[in-house]
Amino acid sequence: MASGLTADAAADVRIFPDPDAVARAVAVHLTSLIEAKTAGGGSFFLALSGGRTPRALYQCLAADYRDRIPWALVNIFWSDERYVPHDDPRSNYGMARETLLDHVPVSAGRVHPMPTDPADPDEAARRYERTLPRVFDLVLLGIGSDGHTASLFPGSPTLDEPERRVVVASAPIEPQVRLTLTLGALNGSDTVFFVVTGANKAPALRRIVKDSPDYHLCPAVGVRPRGGTVIWWVDAAAAAAL
Ligand code: 6PG
Repeated sequence: MASGLTADAAADVRIFPDPDAVARAVAVHLTSLIEAKTAGGGSFFLALSGGRTPRALYQCLAADYRDRIPWALVNIFWSDERYVPHDDPRSNYGMARETLLDHVPVSAGRVHPMPTDPADPDEAARRYERTLPRVFDLVLLGIGSDGHTASLFPGSPTLDEPERRVVVASAPIEPQVRLTLTLGALNGSDTVFFVVTGANKAPALRRIVKDSPDYHLCPAVGVRPRGGTVIWWVDAAAAAAL
């Protein structure tokens, strides 16, 4: 399969043979976006995703782009977090720390994990909201087999949050308590990369890309960044139903 083939005219879906090839391709494109934005001295605002899928990308960035990316100019946020301590193996911050941040020269003042220490998760959400940039240059997202993205789950009232940019979410999977950027915050971005690998994601990917159902049923459909760019980086297994 030729890498980078677009499967559907409407959606920019780029298909690669396997998860490592996906990670390498995303790393190349992400690096060029950061270089373009920081060339004139500007800084880059990036929101990382959690779960298992982005591990390969973070490891690739740490291994092959440590000296290429101007990490000191990159401001790092998260699109969602499990409400567990940062040293918990289920922590999205913890995973990014282990696979990427401990291995590249980011400046500590520009790394903004979602706080999970306050007893009241809503206080944590409000605190995080105050740290957000007006616009993200790039938001990384994944999808679940139910079509959720970040911690925005089907049927959740958070999907119609009119004002807040960070809210507490209840997940149908463990750990249940989460913090998540809202659709409003996700759509306040220039570019969104969905990174999707594995056969178990094939039905959901087809639903989102081909059928585009109502976002209350399939939240990933509600991601429409103001900058207009959404790229789906997928492997052959996830693209099998396209
Ligand atoms: C999380 C994520 C979530 C994730 C999907 C896919 O905190 O779990 O942010 O939205 O992207 O659940 O997860 P996997 O990559 O583990 O399949």
